[in-house]
Amino acid sequence: MPDTLSPQVRFGSNAGQPVTRRDGIAKVTGAATFAADNLPDGLLHAVYVPATVARGRVASLDVAAAEAHTGVTKVYTPANRPPLQGSPDDKPNMFSMRIEALQDDTVRYAGQPIALVVAETLEAATEGARLLAPRYETEVPRVSLADEPALKIEGAGFGKPSDTTHGDPGAGHAAANTAVDVTYTTPAQYHNAMEMHAVVAQWDGDRLTLDIPSQALMLTCEAYAYFLGIPTENVTLRSPYLGGGFGSKAFTTGPQLLAILAARDTGRPVKLMLTRNQMFGPVGHRGATLQRLRLGTDAEGALKVIDHEGISAVSSFDEFVEPAPNATQGLYAAGALRSRHRMARLDVGTPGPMRAPGEASGSAALEGAMDEMAEALGMDPLAFRLKNYAEAEPGTGRPYSSKALRECYEQGAARFGWADRPLQPRTMRDSDGMLTGWGMGTALFGCPMFAADARATLRADGSALVETSAADMGQGAWTALAQIAADSLGLPLDRVEFRAGHSSLPNGGVAGGSGHTATAGGALHAAGGDVLRQLGEIASADPGSPLFGAGNAGFVARDGRLFVEGDDSRSDSFADIFARNGCVEVTGEGSAARAAEHAQRFAMYSHGAVFAEVKVDPSLGQVRVTRMVGAFAAGRIINPKLAESQLMGGMIWGLSFALHEAAKQDPRRGHIVNGDLAGYHVPVNADVQGLEVITVHEDDPFVNPLGIKGVGEIGISGTVGAIANAIRHATGRRVRNFPIRVRDLV
Ligand code: MOS
Repeated sequence: MPDTLSPQVRFGSNAGQPVTRRDGIAKVTGAATFAADNLPDGLLHAVYVPATVARGRVASLDVAAAEAHTGVTKVYTPANRPPLQGSPDDKPNMFSMRIEALQDDTVRYAGQPIALVVAETLEAATEGARLLAPRYETEVPRVSLADEPALKIEGAGFGKPSDTTHGDPGAGHAAANTAVDVTYTTPAQYHNAMEMHAVVAQWDGDRLTLDIPSQALMLTCEAYAYFLGIPTENVTLRSPYLGGGFGSKAFTTGPQLLAILAARDTGRPVKLMLTRNQMFGPVGHRGATLQRLRLGTDAEGALKVIDHEGISAVSSFDEFVEPAPNATQGLYAAGALRSRHRMARLDVGTPGPMRAPGEASGSAALEGAMDEMAEALGMDPLAFRLKNYAEAEPGTGRPYSSKALRECYEQGAARFGWADRPLQPRTMRDSDGMLTGWGMGTALFGCPMFAADARATLRADGSALVETSAADMGQGAWTALAQIAADSLGLPLDRVEFRAGHSSLPNGGVAGGSGHTATAGGALHAAGGDVLRQLGEIASADPGSPLFGAGNAGFVARDGRLFVEGDDSRSDSFADIFARNGCVEVTGEGSAARAAEHAQRFAMYSHGAVFAEVKVDPSLGQVRVTRMVGAFAAGRIINPKLAESQLMGGMIWGLSFALHEAAKQDPRRGHIVNGDLAGYHVPVNADVQGLEVITVHEDDPFVNPLGIKGVGEIGISGTVGAIANAIRHATGRRVRNFPIRVRDLV
């Protein structure tokens, strides 16, 4: 369908290829330098002291003992913390959360920084921090969501979802022939990227160079510059490689700011890296939720209402409300839809976005409730979902920009063998006597786009340099974005040098919301287009060129040649155009955005269907996820190898959500008792057995000019429910509290 608002860009032979990651060798051989690998001359090491209680105040710190320790340079406490511009409560940009940077002696959560020690060696700083031996005046911490009042969310904006109602939920409940009313809980989860948060800060007068792993380079520069009282352009941020982020590395944090202040104060470079245990506090997490779902259908199984109410845990001093009930908007065709959000204050660090914020936790509850509804109706779970398939966005009636969910169901079910599933639970056993169950869930994720800029330079030797400050958390941005850029210039991938991960480059936007490839890729493609336009102008004015006089006919590039659009007989090589006109290079710029009219007119989502098989030991309650098949439709796939890998990663995090992850607070002191990777479980290879991903073809002329929807987060969303539903099918037990544990099944 031709579309003048966002003409679909042309791709060449690079997009669609399963190219291996260009940064892969550097990462596995150790050649890649991460932030904490930078060791400038004269480096001091910083270690902060995390509060070990969750609520109260710091009554004393033995600063003298720490300062007396050999090698300790300086100890910072609220009494001598160097000044900031503004207050740590300020939010320099729309993605900011309040930080804790020694503003006072109040303890708001365990893990909050209460002092910083800098020293000549890491060992001396660590020992200095130990010698501070804090004493506290404590209050009873608030650790349980169910025990605290559910509060209304004041205001709107980042982290503050609003309630949404479509249709008349009351009438829907009244008219329902069959209903379920169930409550699910999800625990606090911590991102735990493999690489902990780190900073190396070096000042030169009022100019600052930072090595910080960042998902959003410009936002990071802007926020630190604000607190330091210097212009954003005085901050140079280097973030070439990240060891994961999962949402936690787009934010300013107190510990990192304190290290930067210490570098300014001491006049020496300072390095700080969080320990694994310190990842459980000041760098965000997914807040716990309690969700009530009320579904009602008519006698034929058509949904009359989905009523989804959530309470999400937030900190005592800021709000990021995990928007779980939003998962209900946009998926199933119900007569009425309601999402209601409330929050409860706990003595924890402030939550933030983590791996499909809202969709992951909300879908865990919704897909479970849908399964319960299907069972109440005596219907096959997939048939029930198909019965309530939304042809337009429920509630708004807006058409989908594209929606190949039906194909996801079909292809996933066929591959998995879903048709052979017995309706009754606890009816399948394998030859070892293991209870076997099959479950499924629908995956859904929106398609946000951020703003991004990029630059492309084509050189006379037929090579190109393309630049944007994009961030590669490990998802393959260095590779997929380079493929897009190469196609925009009609060059083979190996002729394109890609520079990213540095704040001096054009603003690549945010690696978040699964929108980085569409956004930064869109900017790169537009920059390539700008180069071709300029090259076309040169050729068109050049009597020696076969393109002479082509004017503004429009040009396309392939194999290092420029063609008149739609006329393969007229072309000129880049090399000849450059040579005849004595130019060395042509530089173009581009930016990306979604057509505002499309954003209004269309509902935009990625979709998927996840099928899971579990085997449960009937006497031990041990669960094994033996097979998973996920079929996803996410628009254009730039690199199938990387996309499938991302989708697998998402599904593994879904398995983790279903069976492993939960942070536990001690009810007396309020600290997290399992704050390390021994106690905070994530899946290992042995936990992941059969895992298959199908990418379903989908053309989307509206979502953005590249037709890309994003694959970063959707994999987690249908998977949690699929596993929980498979466990129900295997054992006959419905567990509504995540993660599902052995004790729930014996
Ligand atoms: Mo993500 S939670 O959008 O990095």
